[in-house]
Amino acid sequence: MKTTLSVIKADIGSIGGHIKPSQSLLESVQNHIKAKSKGILTDYKITHTGDDIAILSTHTGGPLNEKVHKLCWDALLAGTKTAREQGLYGAGQDLLKDSFSGNVKGMGPAIAELEFEERKAEPFLFFAADKTDPGAFNLPAYLTFCDPMHNAGLLLSSNLKKGFTFRIMDVNYTEADKIIELNTPEEIYDIAVLLRDTERYIVEGVYSRVTGEQVAAVSTTRLHNIAGKYTGKDDPVMLVRTQKDFPATGEVLSPYTIGAFVAGFMRGSHNGPLMPVKQNSDISFFDGPPVVSAAAYCVHDGKLTEAADAFAHPYWDYVRTQVSRKAQEMRRQGFFGPAMLPMSELEYGGVVEVLQELDKRFIIKK
Ligand code: F6R
Ligand code: MG
Ligand code: MG
Repeated sequence: MKTTLSVIKADIGSIGGHIKPSQSLLESVQNHIKAKSKGILTDYKITHTGDDIAILSTHTGGPLNEKVHKLCWDALLAGTKTAREQGLYGAGQDLLKDSFSGNVKGMGPAIAELEFEERKAEPFLFFAADKTDPGAFNLPAYLTFCDPMHNAGLLLSSNLKKGFTFRIMDVNYTEADKIIELNTPEEIYDIAVLLRDTERYIVEGVYSRVTGEQVAAVSTTRLHNIAGKYTGKDDPVMLVRTQKDFPATGEVLSPYTIGAFVAGFMRGSHNGPLMPVKQNSDISFFDGPPVVSAAAYCVHDGKLTEAADAFAHPYWDYVRTQVSRKAQEMRRQGFFGPAMLPMSELEYGGVVEVLQELDKRFIIKK
């Protein structure tokens, strides 16, 4: 029987601004799942990254399964109730729709799901990012699946060498899912052309060309496309199966050493370096910096091991120091140039209103 991994993640309220959920909030989500998951889930873990709560679950119902999605949606609603009772900031922020119809796609929470026949040993990584958007995973995905500078397996393993298929979504198209499939290694330049535009083209999934199996799944929610206005950054999640015919765990982690600049940070309106952090880390400096956590698991008959915290190793302390330096350098120039996002991405209405007012005062000199 096939196993499904599902991550459903949302910001439903936090302490002291957008820092982290309260213990009671986490517990109420946990308690709901514990009480209602019998017969639906095989296993689950509830974690947080910054102000977002993620429900990672295993089951046999396949992706977009109504029972699983309803359970998680209701758990997030139960959490929202607690967040309101405690007066947490932004209670229920990411739950943008009232009525549930089949699955949580397009309702606000980020979703990433993978379905597969378990291998003898099935290791995978669960990434959760905060204060950034799904395009943050574009560069790591590119480097892991296309670049032997990060993925030694592309040179050393005859199977990895056969390449991968990228499924890339144009998230500006909101009528339906608009998808292109491109193959490595022959189309890596075309993949790069799309993935450089992190606000529009997003890796949705990666598939092995040897086995046809899905290796990676990324959430593609863009909250502003659902709500029609700024409601917070999309804070994506990603699942990646690792080892054997897939990249090694360390090859998937390698690109995070760069601390690449991504959109997000304060008011979701700035560029900042993506800092790899330990699990259950909080948010701080300038409502950031953008962060990503990585939990490594093995799943067997649907049962999850405990997590190995992939960014807890001392190596990443050194990376974090370097990323802090990059963050400081960018912050030194405040709102200027690339420090703040271009007008098209500044979704806080204020600046648009100022421009409209100022526009009236421009005079055209003949
Ligand atoms: C970014 C984020 C925060 C808020 C900021 C202002 O994703 O969540 O940076 O945008 O703290 O929040 P409000 O407008 O709620 O006061
Ligand atoms: Mg938030
Ligand atoms: Mg968040």
